[in-house]
Amino acid sequence: SSPLNVAIIGMGTVGSGVAKILLDRAEQMTTRAGRPIHLKRAVVRDLSRPRDIELAEGVLTDDIDSVLNDDSIDVIIQLVGGIDPAYDIMLRALESGKDVVTANKALLCEKGESLYQRARELGRCICFEAAVAGGVPLIETVTQAMSANQITSIEAILNGTSNYILTQMFSHDVSYDDAVKSAQEIGYAEADPAMDVDGTDAAQKLGILVQLSLGIKVSLDQFLRQGIDTLSLADLKYADELGYTVKLLAVANLIDGQLEMHAQPTLIRNDNPLAHVEDAYNKIALEGDAVGKIWLSGMGAGQMATASAVVANLIDVAVGRAALTFPRLDLWNPRHDIKIMPRE
Ligand code: NDP
Ligand code: HSE
Repeated sequence: SSPLNVAIIGMGTVGSGVAKILLDRAEQMTTRAGRPIHLKRAVVRDLSRPRDIELAEGVLTDDIDSVLNDDSIDVIIQLVGGIDPAYDIMLRALESGKDVVTANKALLCEKGESLYQRARELGRCICFEAAVAGGVPLIETVTQAMSANQITSIEAILNGTSNYILTQMFSHDVSYDDAVKSAQEIGYAEADPAMDVDGTDAAQKLGILVQLSLGIKVSLDQFLRQGIDTLSLADLKYADELGYTVKLLAVANLIDGQLEMHAQPTLIRNDNPLAHVEDAYNKIALEGDAVGKIWLSGMGAGQMATASAVVANLIDVAVGRAALTFPRLDLWNPRHDIKIMPRE
């Protein structure tokens, strides 16, 4: 059968991981997608930068227009971070009749509403499993496996970089600055790591989860957001002496129709499973009013874990699953009765 033609825009950490899976496991992916997935183009900003993957001649380009205008491309894998020019790239991809798979949570948190709306108008999908918790199937769990429930509580470690830095500092005696540098080198951190360490990234992910699970859009300035950038090793050691671990926790609780949200460093008792999350792992506790508590955990950042979620969405598109689920996700659970508790 005819191939699904895809283009990656943004061949950095995640984009290179996606290309590796598509090229190294082509046969397996063909079986799972029901047709070959053909990586037709890969767009970068700077063609002279060395890449850790070899692509066939003509695939790598810096000519984004030629890719967005190519009618034979079915899916754009949008892996440029931030808002500008990612928003524009995404709109142009949708308007040229392509489905989009993305990991860009900053964009979805800030501009998701208008993008989802435009995708619906055009009969296209925006798939974003990789945008929250990297390789952990969290979006799918919230929107499909828990669809019989009203989710009432989310308690989660959602920023891999912060968790990596905290564990490096406490368990491996690495300085804060060195830990940040190594998170950048490994590819856990955002292009601007300030977004990781000041709590913005975790708050953006919480905003997306709350929109999906409670049907309300909460903007970042409506809830408390703090990062690990103000912590010292002494804070971590002192917490430990008292039987606690410090984690950057993103929390949303729905109590009597009122929503309380925050993302901040939190003292967690050492007998709580959240205290034992290491490296760039994420761990998420979700509470549903029918199922009770569900735990998920896994790599929340990094090349191959994130690429795993991106490629899973690509297969969702190929087999027609994406069209059945993603276009309705932001509308499926409207709750107009919920009040957002003012930030303290
Ligand atoms: P990188 O910074 O490693 O890669 C970004 C890529 O985008 C680079 O290849 C860059 O080109 C390209 N790029 C930037 N601007 C443009 C432009 N104007 N036109 C064309 N290409 C451009 O980012 P990541 O791969 O780490 O992240 C990509 C997205 O995935 C982000 O939204 C991030 O938040 C998200 N994400 C990242 C995870 C991770 O663990 N890294 C995990 C989950 C989500 P060049 O190489 O030439 O500079
Ligand atoms: N910088 C992000 C993190 C990448 O460390 O969690 C995954 O979204």
